Formats: sequence, structure tokens, C-alpha cells
Amino acid sequence: MAKRTVSQLDVAGKLVLVRVDFNIPIEQGVEAIASYDQRLRATLPTIRYLKDQGSRVILCSHLGRPGGKVVDSLRLAPVGDRLAKLLGSQVKCLSETIGPRVEDTVGSMQSCEVALLENLRFYAGEEKNDPDFARSLADLADCFVMDAFAVTHRAHASTVGLPGLLPSAMGLLVQREVESLGQALDIKVEAKPLAALMGGAKVSDKILVLENLLTKLDHLIVGGGMSVTFLRAQGYETGASSIEEDRLEFAKEVLSRATKLGVQVHLPVDVVVADRFADDASGVETVLVNQVPPGSLIMDIGPITANLFSESLGQCKTIVWNGPMGVFEMPNFSHGTRTVAGAIANLSGVTSVVGGGSTAEAVEELGLMDRMTHVSTGGGASLEFLEGKDLPGIAALPDA
Ligand code: 3PG
Repeated sequence: MAKRTVSQLDVAGKLVLVRVDFNIPIEQGVEAIASYDQRLRATLPTIRYLKDQGSRVILCSHLGRPGGKVVDSLRLAPVGDRLAKLLGSQVKCLSETIGPRVEDTVGSMQSCEVALLENLRFYAGEEKNDPDFARSLADLADCFVMDAFAVTHRAHASTVGLPGLLPSAMGLLVQREVESLGQALDIKVEAKPLAALMGGAKVSDKILVLENLLTKLDHLIVGGGMSVTFLRAQGYETGASSIEEDRLEFAKEVLSRATKLGVQVHLPVDVVVADRFADDASGVETVLVNQVPPGSLIMDIGPITANLFSESLGQCKTIVWNGPMGVFEMPNFSHGTRTVAGAIANLSGVTSVVGGGSTAEAVEELGLMDRMTHVSTGGGASLEFLEGKDLPGIAALPDA
């Protein structure tokens, strides 16, 4: 059942509490905020929509994991300053989240003003989904908009408590995420062939996604650290690379089920190896998968593989990408990820849906965000969505 959207909620002139996810890697320093502001940019359409309706917009978010205590380095004010720049208008940053001073400030807000409450996780009640904490938040506003897709997999006071206390709806970002990621789960004939391009370190992180998507796929393309376990399952020697012994059977099963289902599986045929897990490692060479030297670590897919993967992606109309193809954060081992990202970006008439977390970071770093149909803001949340799970922060919202 479709959920109520912000355009179906009476927000004109109202005090609207908006749950956003401004959880960005603040530990990299305040000056780095601008490089990691995808989540801020992604909420601009909802904030602008509400301002256009004359609403008074109260934003609330968590930042990091302060564990119910005030941690000065996790205050939201620097993030609010960046938001103000992106928005082109003032954002009033509060130093508390609930309480009489917050109520006074919010009560004197004018139409179209935007305020940002302090970090929700400074209060233990947030993660405990404490009804009193949810009530104190609800008392600040007339209605609630859920626009924090990246935290919809958490059942916290601000994600599942608030929708029961205020007239609520999903914001434009959550709506876009649900529609875009949902395309893969409910793939239409005209949107096929469908490819899942899977990477990242571990098979275990992707088991449920693979199980949920396999029957819908035309191509399963596997790179990154997880492909090493698949290669071993096929009997290749994989040097000193760590493999998930307990996932070998699963990998074999996926390969045999894919064959039965007629899904074309693409695994690396060449890889980049090194003698240790470091960008300045020595012994860096590209070898065929049947020639991985003993003692070497597989760090990236090789150039032949990157081109073969790109060619297969070129045959598809819908691509779901989750996980880098190699150790992308080390420039010497980023070629595979760069190549497939560039290939997807250059395709026309293709719907490309990119999972959040490290895949989104890679796409952002390559400056290709605008060349993908949708880059999810959610890491864990996008995975759970693709696993077919009900996300509590969405389930709690009223139906349309
Ligand atoms: C995320 O960054 O994935 C979300 O903000 C959730 O954060 P959490 O894993 O600390 O709950």
C-alpha cells in the first residue's frame, strides 16, 4: 500500500517537524562537510516545498552515535551552516532538541523560517523509542514529515514514535528512494534486462539482497572483495586474500541457482594483486584469476574484467549497483570501480540505481552523481529495502 506523501498533507502555514538524516562523516573535520553533503542536498526539495507552502520548518536529525550523551564534536550547528549555504537562506541552529527554550524559539518562528534542532541522539530516549521523548518532539509541531530515508531501518522515537502522534507523511526524498529502489524489486518487462552489479567486502552483507533479487535478474555481476569467495567457490586459488569460508556453500548455491534460472553470472577473469593491503604495496600486478600468486591479496578487478562488466551493463535497461569493485579508497586499486562507474554514467536510456554507503561515496568522489538515475542516501537502509524487508520508519507512516 502506498504511503501518504507530503503533497497529501496539510502543511500550509503549519509548524512542520521534518526528520532528516544529516549523519555525515563529521570526524573528517568541519571543513570536509562540503565534500560529504549529498544527504543535505537530497533534502532540499522537501525543505523548499515546505517553504513554498509557507510552513515553519523544524528539522531534526541524529549525527554519529553519541549514546544518549552530549558530545560537543557531534553538535549539528556546522551541518546547519552548510545547509544554510545550500538553501541560500538562514537556518536557525538550536543547542537543544526538546524543552522549554526550544518550545519558545519554535513558537516564535515565522512562515518560511527553517530551524535545526540539536542532535536527537544526545537523548537516550531517541534510540530507545521512548514515548515521552517522542511526545516532547511531537509537542513542537502541527505535523510530521519523514524525509530521513537513511535511518528508516531504525525503530527510534523520531522514526516510528512520531508518526503515531502527529498527522504524518513521507517527504520527497523518501518518496524518491522508495520509487527508485522499488523499481528493481518490482521490475517491469519493459525495464528489462535487469543487472545487479554487486561488490564490497563481504558476501555476508549481500546474502539477503542476492536471495531477494536473483529470480528477477538477467545479469548478476560480482566484483569487489565478495567476488573472491565466489572465485574460491569455483575452485580458484585466491592467494592470501581473506575469503568467507562459511559462505562458500552459499556462493556455490547462488551460482547453481542462477544457472537454473537463466541468469548470466559474470565473475572476474583478471584481478589486480598486491603483497599487502596498502596503496603503496609492492608486487602490484594484474593477473588472470587462475594465476593469483600464493601470498598475494586481490585488491581490484582487472582491466579485462572491468571492460567485460561494462559491456554486460551496456546490454541492460535497469542496473542496481551496490558495492565498489575493489579497494576504491586506495587510488592504485580504484580502476575497476572507476571504469564501471564511468560506463554506467555514459549509458543512455538506462535506469541506474546506486546503493548508498561506500558506493554512493565512490560515485560522489568521481563527480558522477548527476549521471546516475538515483543514488540512494541510505547505506543500511537501502540494503534492507533491497532485501525486501519492511523498513520500520516507512511502515509507521499512514497509508495514502
Ligand atoms: C546511516 O548513516 O546509515 C544512518 O544514518 C544510520 O546510522 P546508524 O547506523 O548509526 O543508525
